[in-house]
Amino acid sequence: MTLSFLFLFIFKFQDVTAFATTARHLCRPGQRNVLLEFKKVFEIRRSSSKLCNINGRIVGSYPKTESWGNNSDCCYWGGVTCDAKSKDVIKLDLSCSCLHGRFHSNTSLVRLQNLPSLKTLDLSNNYLYGQVPSSIGKLSRLTSLSLSNNRFSGEILPSVENIPRLSFLRLSNNLFSGQIRLWIGNFSHLTFLDLSSNHFAGQIPFSIGVLSQLTSLSLSDNQFSGQIPTSLGNLSHLTSLDLSSNQFSGQIPSTLGKLSHLTSLQLFANQFSDQIPSSVGNLSHLTSLHFSHNQFSGQLPSSIGKLSRLTSLDCCENSLVGRIPSSFSRLNQLTNLVVNSNKLSGKFPIALLNLTKLSYLSLSNNRFTGTLPPNITSLSNLEFISAYDNAFVGPLPSSLFNLPALTSIYLTNNQLEGSLKFGNTSSPSSKLRVLSLGSNKFKGPIPSSISKLANLEVLDISHWNSHVDFSIFSLLRSLQRLYLSHLRATPRIDLSAILSCFKSLDLLDLSGNHVFLATNKTTVSDLLPSVVISNLNLSGCGITEFPELLRTQTLLQTLDISNNEIKGQVPGWLWMLPNLGYLDLSNNTFIGFETSTIRKLSSVLGHLFGSNNNFSGEVPSLLCELHSLRTLDLSNNNFSGSIPLCMGNLKSTLSVLNVRQNRLSGCLPGNAFESLRSFDVGHNQLVGKLPRSLVHFSALEVLNVESNMINDTFPFWLNSLQELKVLVLRSNAFHGPVHQAAFLKLQIIDISHNHFSGILPSDYFVNLRKMSSLEVNKDRSNLKYTGEAAIGFVPGIVFGLAIGYILVCYKTEWFSGRNKHRSRSTPTR
Ligand SMILES: *[C@@H]1O[C@H](CO)[C@@H](O)[C@H](O)[C@H]1NC(C)=O
Ligand SMILES: *[C@@H]1O[C@H](CO)[C@@H](O)[C@H](O)[C@H]1NC(C)=O
Ligand SMILES: *[C@@H]1O[C@H](CO)[C@@H](O)[C@H](O)[C@H]1NC(C)=O
Ligand SMILES: *[C@@H]1O[C@H](CO)[C@@H](O)[C@H](O)[C@H]1NC(C)=O
Ligand SMILES: *[C@@H]1O[C@H](CO)[C@@H](O)[C@H](O)[C@H]1NC(C)=O
Ligand SMILES: *[C@@H]1O[C@H](CO)[C@@H](O)[C@H](O)[C@H]1NC(C)=O
Ligand SMILES: *[C@@H]1O[C@H](CO)[C@@H](O)[C@H](O)[C@H]1NC(C)=O
Ligand SMILES: *[C@@H]1O[C@H](CO)[C@@H](O)[C@H](O)[C@H]1NC(C)=O
Ligand SMILES: *[C@@H]1O[C@H](CO)[C@@H](O)[C@H](O)[C@H]1NC(C)=O
Ligand SMILES: *[C@@H]1O[C@H](CO)[C@@H](O)[C@H](O)[C@H]1NC(C)=O
Ligand SMILES: *[C@@H]1O[C@H](CO)[C@@H](O)[C@H](O)[C@H]1NC(C)=O
Ligand SMILES: *[C@@H]1O[C@H](CO)[C@@H](O)[C@H](O)[C@H]1NC(C)=O
Repeated sequence: MTLSFLFLFIFKFQDVTAFATTARHLCRPGQRNVLLEFKKVFEIRRSSSKLCNINGRIVGSYPKTESWGNNSDCCYWGGVTCDAKSKDVIKLDLSCSCLHGRFHSNTSLVRLQNLPSLKTLDLSNNYLYGQVPSSIGKLSRLTSLSLSNNRFSGEILPSVENIPRLSFLRLSNNLFSGQIRLWIGNFSHLTFLDLSSNHFAGQIPFSIGVLSQLTSLSLSDNQFSGQIPTSLGNLSHLTSLDLSSNQFSGQIPSTLGKLSHLTSLQLFANQFSDQIPSSVGNLSHLTSLHFSHNQFSGQLPSSIGKLSRLTSLDCCENSLVGRIPSSFSRLNQLTNLVVNSNKLSGKFPIALLNLTKLSYLSLSNNRFTGTLPPNITSLSNLEFISAYDNAFVGPLPSSLFNLPALTSIYLTNNQLEGSLKFGNTSSPSSKLRVLSLGSNKFKGPIPSSISKLANLEVLDISHWNSHVDFSIFSLLRSLQRLYLSHLRATPRIDLSAILSCFKSLDLLDLSGNHVFLATNKTTVSDLLPSVVISNLNLSGCGITEFPELLRTQTLLQTLDISNNEIKGQVPGWLWMLPNLGYLDLSNNTFIGFETSTIRKLSSVLGHLFGSNNNFSGEVPSLLCELHSLRTLDLSNNNFSGSIPLCMGNLKSTLSVLNVRQNRLSGCLPGNAFESLRSFDVGHNQLVGKLPRSLVHFSALEVLNVESNMINDTFPFWLNSLQELKVLVLRSNAFHGPVHQAAFLKLQIIDISHNHFSGILPSDYFVNLRKMSSLEVNKDRSNLKYTGEAAIGFVPGIVFGLAIGYILVCYKTEWFSGRNKHRSRSTPTR
């Protein structure tokens, strides 16, 4: 950083001397005083220095105003530029100048109005905050204003309204809010507008069409919504348009095809739908076209093949169907093609084989079939190929390994078959770092020539159908992540033997194999100092004793030892592994938690899964000491007693709490778990009322109290929980009428098998249904709704697929015991 200061300083110095030889300024004293007064508004803090990009160079901040003094010519001060003739200050560039503070009132900026020729004001990359005072409008002659990378907030209007000649306006990376529809149409001289990364909202008004001089428009990363007005097609000088990361919806107007100078079009991460208009093919200067993460449907328009300058095309995460058009063979400048996570089909698009500049190709998670063509080698610049989760068949072309630049191959979960051949790997310096071939139908040995892949870091050969000889792995010196799950043809794996092949390994997945553990203490202690492992998956390995050799694995972060047959106590030393953040013990036959040896608990354990064991007795208070715990799943055990009060220790961290299917009694705890998103206490023996403290569970999305003995009236008051999506009260002693209550996001409600009575208003769920179809949950968190499939919906689907279901009234005693009302679950999409 110090070096950058110096560099900048020298640069400035040269700048000034060069200037001095061509022009002699003498700043006007009045203007000098204005500047000195303006300087006083800010505090300079050198300590917190931002990195700034000045003409493409990254440099540190430096306080330009420090050179300002009474006795010198202000035209030579840092950041000040004067007109050569009139000697008026025309430009004030205080970007990256360590300025801290707020524009307190109108007085500070208003001083600058006494610089009558000031055209450019740049205060970007400082630490300025607060609202921009309306007095900035007094600087009516400004043509260029940059306030980016500060913490300005509030509405920019009416501040800028009175600067009609503004042609350059950059407000990016602040906290500005409000609607642009109120002022955008007033700036018909704008050529550059960057509002990205703020909190602007509302629609783009039709009046944007008057900004006919605009060459660059960025609205990205705000909360804009609504459709794109067709008038955008009027901005015929635009070269760059960025609308990404907003909530825009609807169709892309075909008038966009009129923006014939456009080189960059960014539409990703919105909710655009319908087809991509074929008029995009008219944007003949386009080099970058990104419309991923939307809801586009239909086919990729073949007109895209006309975009002969295109270097990057990304349309992943949409609902596109059909084939990749053969016209794509003409995109001969293309380096990145990203079409994953759509519903594209057909054979491997041979049109792509003409794209000799292609370096990044992602076809994964589609419906492609057929074989991988051996002449894929014509993609001589390919660095990355991903085609996992498709239905490719046939052999893996060994020619792939001859591609000199290739670093990553992802082909898991296809139907590839035959044996693995590395072909002519005489090139000793293979750049391959990732080879991911799991879940295919490969057979035969892994050739020992794999050792030529000296840079291999990730290897996935899960579900390999022939015997795997582990000694080959010791040849792979760079290996960090090794996926070996479900090696059906490899009988028994000695954990210590396989670990001894490595010095350090970030990840080892042995799940679904028959793993045995060296219980011979001498062997273990011999081994321990040398092996270091961070993530270990031993799920479903038929293990009967807890692997003692993990006791000294102080770098262990993730341990999945679920689905085994381990008996006895969960060892106390586990809680002392300082980096353990994720522990899955579920589906074993543990009976308790060993506590005696505990001295200092790991403070990082975030996820603990202990379901499906034989735990009994009270829920151990030990768990309340795990202060980082976010997920706690103790379901399907024999825990008894009440939910421990000390659980309140976790109220600000815990996000998922599942104690379903135990023998817990007493009342629900009264703590306010403000971070809890999923709370499942179903199938226990809980009594009493729902605690009114539930209204403070402000993040709650799932509440399930089914099959207890809770005796309460209908909890209409839960409608204050803004995020609630699933509410299951089934099989308790709820009684009385069902109040009408507006649950905003509710998708599932089950109140069956209770003693509710009275009339259910006919429109009760109509409203609810509307709400649920509007609300789409995109959050792919690890929330699970573990309801019974018998209720009529597939567990887990709600959160994964964003489908709203309403589950109502099944076998409930709606009409005062007349029991007539029966309905099924109703899909709403
Ligand atoms: C500049 O002059 C003003 C009075 O005009 C005085 O108050 C101030 O201290 C002077 N500043 C410097 C840096 O000399
Ligand atoms: C700033 O000046 C405008 C008029 O130019 C006035 O309406 C506003 O109240 C002033 N704000 C403050 C904080 O003085
Ligand atoms: C801004 O534009 C609106 C109409 O779009 C107009 O009513 C208003 O007077 C304009 N303001 C200025 C300062 O020109
Ligand atoms: C399009 O731009 C022209 C000037 O080039 C202007 O006269 C017209 O009003 C604009 N149309 C729209 C819809 O804004
Ligand atoms: C723009 O694209 C459309 C559809 O592809 C086409 O009909 C039209 O002629 C094109 N316009 C120009 C000016 O190329
Ligand atoms: C690649 O091979 C396929 C047949 O497998 C052929 O149709 C295609 O023309 C070849 N492409 C190139 C570029 O060689
Ligand atoms: C694509 O490659 C094939 C085979 O090399 C060739 O016949 C065809 O003309 C090429 N297409 C284009 C558009 O370059
Ligand atoms: C293997 O590759 C080397 C250079 O990469 C080449 O000289 C040799 O002819 C190739 N051998 C075969 C059989 O293709
Ligand atoms: C334990 O290891 C030692 C030293 O490697 C060996 O001599 C002994 O036979 C082993 N014992 C068992 C039970 O495998
Ligand atoms: C361990 O492997 C199993 C089966 O392959 C998988 O379901 C599970 O998610 C893995 N565990 C972790 C923590 O990745
Ligand atoms: C529990 O683990 C056993 C293997 O020990 C496995 O067969 C069974 O399917 C697992 N149960 C569940 C629910 O995953
Ligand atoms: C529920 O509680 C009320 C008293 O508050 C009692 O009269 C009723 O019998 C209880 N119902 C059940 C099913 O326990």
